[in-house]
Amino acid sequence: MTRALSTRRVFLVGFMGAGKSSVGRALASRLGWQFCDLDQVIEKREGKTVAEIFAEREEAGFRAAETMALEELLQDTSRNTDLVIALGGGTFVQPQNRRILEEAEAITVLLEAPVDELRRRCRADGTVRALATDPGRFARLYEERLAAYKMATHKVNTMGKKVEDVTAEIAGILTLTTPESQR
Ligand code: S3P
Repeated sequence: MTRALSTRRVFLVGFMGAGKSSVGRALASRLGWQFCDLDQVIEKREGKTVAEIFAEREEAGFRAAETMALEELLQDTSRNTDLVIALGGGTFVQPQNRRILEEAEAITVLLEAPVDELRRRCRADGTVRALATDPGRFARLYEERLAAYKMATHKVNTMGKKVEDVTAEIAGILTLTTPESQR
């Protein structure tokens, strides 16, 4: 790794609607770290929205762009700062991305919620998601991904909790698991 050893990175993992971006922003603000959303990194890099990339290049094209964005983000020495990163819902499911994160010794935190709740949150937040339009496909994808999500370093149940509660829980986990010299 080329980044300074003193910088810390926490990656939020979870299905669409898990709250990765809202919890990520709140966690970064609580810790005084920077926040970064991988979907936004992809959009900036490609000059297109995620929906446009899906429409033009299908899922395989999006996944290629996603892996490149993740690699670049981890190698970006100009980001010499502590960082909370919200991954996309499918990022951690791709074995090559898990390998990249493992090699970077990344701390990964899974935000869990039941599928009905995830669907409700996706409908409420108004974001256009290519993989969330069909309820049956949404539910199947959720089931298929569970085993991969469980490989995250830490897991936090978000059901019935406010963003601040989830954030406080993650901050607690980080305090317990980070050596004092790196806090
Ligand atoms: C995806 C989730 C989306 C986005 C893309 C694919 C997925 O991110 O990366 O539409 O495969 O689950 P969010 O989880 O932030 O919605």
